[in-house]
Amino acid sequence: MNILTPVQVGMIGMGVVGTGVARILVQHADRITRRAGRPIRLKRVAVRDTGRTRDVELPAGVISGDAADLIQDPEISIVVQLMGGVDLARQQILAALTHGKDIVTANKAVLAEHGTEIFDHALRLGRSVAYDAAVAGGIPIVSNIGQCLTANQITSLHGILNGTCNFIISKMEEDHSDYASAVAEAQRRGFAEADPRMDVDGSDAAQKLAILVQMAFDTQIGWRDIHRVGIDRLEPAELQLAKELGYRVRLIASASHGNNGLELQVAPRLVRIGSPLAEVRGAYNAISVNGDMVGTIFYHGLGAGQSPTASAVVADLIDTVVGRSAITFRTTGHWSDHEHSLPFADVAQTRSRFYWRITVQDDPGVLAQIAGALGQNGVSIATLIQRESVFDSVPGYTNLVLMTHESSEGAALAAETQLRQLAVVRKDTGIRLPVLN
Ligand code: HSE
Repeated sequence: MNILTPVQVGMIGMGVVGTGVARILVQHADRITRRAGRPIRLKRVAVRDTGRTRDVELPAGVISGDAADLIQDPEISIVVQLMGGVDLARQQILAALTHGKDIVTANKAVLAEHGTEIFDHALRLGRSVAYDAAVAGGIPIVSNIGQCLTANQITSLHGILNGTCNFIISKMEEDHSDYASAVAEAQRRGFAEADPRMDVDGSDAAQKLAILVQMAFDTQIGWRDIHRVGIDRLEPAELQLAKELGYRVRLIASASHGNNGLELQVAPRLVRIGSPLAEVRGAYNAISVNGDMVGTIFYHGLGAGQSPTASAVVADLIDTVVGRSAITFRTTGHWSDHEHSLPFADVAQTRSRFYWRITVQDDPGVLAQIAGALGQNGVSIATLIQRESVFDSVPGYTNLVLMTHESSEGAALAAETQLRQLAVVRKDTGIRLPVLN
């Protein structure tokens, strides 16, 4: 084959990211050809709505509504799967592999649900799956863990993996917006998933964490099994109070290998102001990775959006054309290898300090009851703030804001349950957030 024969590519889905991919391939064809050693040609693009006007002009006949035709086209050697959803995406990827195509995808949901099946199928057929765009958009975290850090045992990773949540929290913190208007603004700006509940309840971050955990710890985890807490109960006041205590709140997806096994969680956590994760604003993503040889590495960049995500997709496409994806994929086929799997820690055993806001009746002896419930469960108070009017102006009530010394999640939960049974505690308010050490 002539070295300049174009590689024929089929793309399924041409929404925000697909349009960005087409734009790079069309507008920067010379650069891409140099990097790939051959031209990369979008031969066919399958879309749901063929009547829609596109921002990038493609030759007549490229766009169609028929993904099956594209998958079976013998001239196409790589299928870029960018359509969202799970079931149809799974079928398309498996069928494309069966038809001898290599895959590039940005679909984290399908990998988090069916990664093992897809990877096994690809390995059996000698094909590759490249998915750097599926986690943290433009940040090359998948290729870094899969290629650059392979001399290490990763000991922990902590990430801001959902740009929508970070945007919402930053907005509430900086503009004192309330939660609902910050969510609406994120939707207007197009960061949010089609169903924004997946963003704000921590599911999207858990799916990305599950993918990283498989690579970093050689351990398979169903994303639904990751303990997760969303950001929907945060109030602007929480963010202001955290700031007064020297912290910001961030939705942190974390995996760390401790004495009790692999600790996994997605939760809003207090992060000390000045630390790199605390300074991540707006729709940015960031990941702090600790390797036993390299120490700590910090990645920061745009985790969603057209150009950053398309940058990752096209890099994967080039890697597939030059053969790098095939090598990496073969050597990092961890997904079905359970030999080195780590045991999971029970969430109740994970230890941290806690920020705690408790709304209580402003009466004599109340503080003693609160301290008693915490003390009986072995939770020790480090800092306590009570002001006459913090923000909850329900007559007769006040807010206690406290930071605890380190305790287990189990002990803190037991104390919380006991607190909720006290007549002096308001049940419909209050929040407890772990602190990132
Ligand atoms: N909704 C996701 C986010 C998009 O906000 O990070 C990228 O997965």
